[in-house]
This record gives sequence, C-alpha cells and structure tokens, in this order.
Amino acid sequence: MALKDINFNDIKDAAKDVAEKVGEATRDTVEKLKRKDILTAPFMIEMIRTATNMYDHGWDERNGGNISLMVDEEEIAKYMDLTEVIREIPTGFDAPTLDGKYFLVTGTGKYFKNVQYAPEVNLGLIRIKDSGRTAELLWGYADGGKFTSELPAHLMSHAARLEVNPENRVVMHCHPGNLLAMTYVHDLDEKAFTRTLWQMCTECIVVFPEGVNVLPWMLCGTNEIGVATAEKMKTARLVVWSQHGIYGAGKDLDETFGLIETAEKAAEIYMKIAHLPLLNTITDEAMWLLCDRFELTPREGYLAPRQA
Ligand code: 13P
Ligand code: ZN
Repeated sequence: MALKDINFNDIKDAAKDVAEKVGEATRDTVEKLKRKDILTAPFMIEMIRTATNMYDHGWDERNGGNISLMVDEEEIAKYMDLTEVIREIPTGFDAPTLDGKYFLVTGTGKYFKNVQYAPEVNLGLIRIKDSGRTAELLWGYADGGKFTSELPAHLMSHAARLEVNPENRVVMHCHPGNLLAMTYVHDLDEKAFTRTLWQMCTECIVVFPEGVNVLPWMLCGTNEIGVATAEKMKTARLVVWSQHGIYGAGKDLDETFGLIETAEKAAEIYMKIAHLPLLNTITDEAMWLLCDRFELTPREGYLAPRQA
C-alpha cells in the first residue's frame, strides 16, 4: 500500500480508542487496588465478634437468632464496587422508607458459632430497593443462601426505630434461656413484666427506662410478627417474643447486646428467686432515686407516684 492510500485520521481515531480503553482499564484497576478487603472493615469485625459473643452466651443454639446492621454507603464504598450486584432476592414485604439502605444480615439457617470461620457464607450485605420488596446482594451468602427468615421483623423494626431515633443501626434477635423461661411462668402484661425485671437488678431501670414490650406467642418468620414487632418497637427497644426469645434495637452492636444482656441477667435473678419467699426488693421510691441520679424518665405509669 502506498503512503498516500493510508488514512491517518482512521489510525488516529483507533489510537485514541485504544488509549481511552487502556485509561479506563487502568482507572478500574487502581480503584480495585485502592479498595480494602471487606473482612477488615470495622463494621464486619464488630458483627463477627458480636455473633460469636452471642453464641458464647448460649443465646443462639443451632441457627437460633439473627442480626441486621445498617451500614452507611460511604463506609461500604471503601470495600466494594456498589454497581456490582451478585443477585436480587425478593423480600416478600414492603418497607418503603428503607430504599437505598444497606444492611449486613445473618443468613437463614446459619449457625452463629460458624460466623467467625466463614463470614462470607454466613453473612450477606444487601441493599434495599423497590419499596423494600427487593434486596440486592452485594457480598456474602456465598453458598447460594439468603438473609434470615426474620427479615420482615428486622426491616420493619429498623423503620420503626429510625422514626424514634435516627441513629438506630441495629436489630438483634436471640433466644436467651432465662427470658424465655420467664415467659412460661410470669404474667405477660408489659407493665408487670417490666416491673419484675426492674426489681431484679439496680441497673435495669437505668439501662431500659422505657421498659420491655411483650408479644404473645406468634408464628415466627411471618410478615404478621414483623408488623407486630415493629409496632412494639415504637415504644421500647426491647420486645419479648413469648416462648421464643427477644428482639433488641440500638445505635450500635454493643448497645443492643448490652440491652439484651441486662434484661437476661434480670430474668436470671428472677428464675433463681421466683420460687423462694421474697424478703427484700428494690422499691419504687428507690427506682425514682435512680431516675433522678441518671436523669431518666421511666415509662409513664410504671412506677407508683412519688411520695411528696
Ligand atoms: P433464621 O435461621 O432464619 O435466622 O431463623 C432463626 C430464628 O431464630 C427464627 O426465629
Ligand atoms: Zn428465633
């Protein structure tokens, strides 16, 4: 081919095209290299530690219990490409206020004792869309699994707690033995149940001044128990599921764990003394003093009015 027949503009365009593609690929690689390993993320480490701790406390036999942790988009973007969706999973319910929110959630049928050894199989990171009806899986459930069967109660509770406290990030469910036992032998009236727990340890009214709410036995894993739990979450961060377990909500994993831990300790004392003659207790007057000391307002009508 003679020099005059060569179209230098075509060559220039092709070179530009190649340069653009190389630039794009380089930028992609740099972005990927900049991204950190998600298993080193503070939120992931905290989730794994909490699940392990819950198992060690005996609250999560077999696959019992589930946790959902809301994580900010900027935090997740440090670890992954948010446009890469592994698969979409229908949720089966509506949660319109949660679209675009990200949750790290334990998998259904997964054992808390195994979370620390295989986080990518036992946990999943999802983004909510379609008014709550679809979860986009961004990481985890690596064996083809999916989120906990209790996702309705979790997401509906997140929505309810966020209305009360925009800082809420955690919903946690588990089966602590003494709280569960208490639901067989104690009146399930919320005021009566709360007052007994408050009377069992001095710190109880300080940790949960709003008390605990109680649901009767209901079929778990359903939207109905999700709606009922979320309704109860409007007035308290602890909701007892009779003959099943407890739900807790809080601004972080530590706070939520601590709430359940405190209620469970109180239930333990109750189960130790319920069959014995009661000689002493924490009086309502003493509880008012605690409220003053810690500047708290107890659930209205749960303490006898103060003596003048
Ligand atoms: P999942 O295994 O689906 O999380 O269920 C466990 C449980 O505790 C049901 O209430
Ligand atoms: Zn359960």
